[in-house]
Amino acid sequence: MHRKSVLIVDDEASVRTSLEKVLSKAGCVTKTAASGTEALGQLARAPVDLVLSDLKMPEMNGLELLRQIKKQHSKVEVILLTGYGTVERAVEAMKEGAYDFITKPFKKAIILQTVERALDRQTLSRENEYLRLQLGRTKSYDNIVGKSQALRDVLEMVARVAPLVSTVLITGASGTGKELIARALHSKSLRAEKRFVPINCAAIPENLIESELFGHVKGSFTGALRDKEGLFKVAEGGTIFLDEIVSIPINLQVKLLRAIEQKEILAVGSTNPEIIDVRIVAATNKNLANEVEAGNFREDLYYRLNVVGIMIPPLKERAEDIPDLIEHYMKQYNVQLNKQVNGVDNKTLQFLVDCEWKGNVRELENSIERAMILCDDEQLTMRHFTHLVSKDQIAQKFDGDLKSAVRRFEQDRIVQAVEIADHDKAKAARLLGLSLSSLYRKIAELGIDIRS
Ligand SMILES: Nc1ncnc2c1ncn2[C@@H]1O[C@H](COP(=O)(O)OP(=O)(O)OP(=O)(O)O)[C@@H](O)[C@H]1O
Ligand SMILES: [Mg+2]
Repeated sequence: MHRKSVLIVDDEASVRTSLEKVLSKAGCVTKTAASGTEALGQLARAPVDLVLSDLKMPEMNGLELLRQIKKQHSKVEVILLTGYGTVERAVEAMKEGAYDFITKPFKKAIILQTVERALDRQTLSRENEYLRLQLGRTKSYDNIVGKSQALRDVLEMVARVAPLVSTVLITGASGTGKELIARALHSKSLRAEKRFVPINCAAIPENLIESELFGHVKGSFTGALRDKEGLFKVAEGGTIFLDEIVSIPINLQVKLLRAIEQKEILAVGSTNPEIIDVRIVAATNKNLANEVEAGNFREDLYYRLNVVGIMIPPLKERAEDIPDLIEHYMKQYNVQLNKQVNGVDNKTLQFLVDCEWKGNVRELENSIERAMILCDDEQLTMRHFTHLVSKDQIAQKFDGDLKSAVRRFEQDRIVQAVEIADHDKAKAARLLGLSLSSLYRKIAELGIDIRS
């Protein structure tokens, strides 16, 4: 295998020298440039595998350099070095295709690890590209059902970001498929052979979240009887899925941010940070930007998590996926429940497409399961969905306006009384318990035609 080449770009000579030392010791061929312009000149003459560039430089900054590199030499990976306080711009850089960024002051080990992974990925993505070309197609998402444009956009995003290390934030209402998408991100990544570790932050008591995530050493708190490995460690090399991220207490948010930025964790009660390689995918059904505004969520962590944002629209907004989902669940429950249902009648299908689905795909799935349990025929019909009719349709038909109901009632009563009294208004008034003048007023008010 040929030795990998790295171009180091920094306006500070001391940084260039120290990086050069670290990387050449690790077996890389190194080159240096003192500015973005110089770097582009060198790249034009002889390509390299990787560029390691400072973000803040006079003239052309790292972001501008990144853009030029991605335009002219799309296969070259770029890692950026940033000082504290420029994280937002670094996040922007990730969106523009940087492989990763490293915060200064940096540790040798982190530089080596990040460079190594970037180079690995490059090799792998070249190999993958070759395999894909041979195969003539990309792998499908066989467990994700639906052909709506909205869902296709989500899946395209998944395919695009799965190979990256970038943190992903998935948002969407309850039951829209956030976890499903998180798993797809993992299984389409180069980490697929390693673990996917889901953790529901809302389900763990606040005082235990830190030790769950980062582990603890024996005796660090009452009940810590032996050393315990945290979930980040369990997920090493793979993906950790932080579900309901808003539930992470604010003091722990700082530690999570550190874990992401420094790529290292500190177990509760330990003084030895450990370097980790874990891809973080977070999810929430809340609007995280609002939570930041309300002071419940750290802004810096928000930016760091939201490097790539994936929004899954509610089912109602992609109703064309509903027939496919029904079909999918019908097949699934035919097997599970040993039934032979082969369809839904048109009226019922239309009804299901029009339903509100506040609980999204999960609610649809549960409804189909329930209907299938009840169904002994070959088709699902309205009879099997009475649980939905009672809530949804009755509400639609129900005319809740009290005033107009009273008005209709009064009209009917007056017409009845006038008829019974053979159009004798005084008698009708007595029947109704009104004075004659009140009856005339009512008749006028309600616009009743008493001649007919
Ligand atoms: N497009 C889809 N195709 C097939 N199944 C789906 C799809 N979207 C969601 N599901 C299914 O719906 C159920 C809910 O999905 P999931 O658990 O991923 O939702 P969620 O957004 O994480 O929900 P919550 O916010 O309640 O945790 C799962 O059984 C999942 O397999
Ligand atoms: Mg979920």
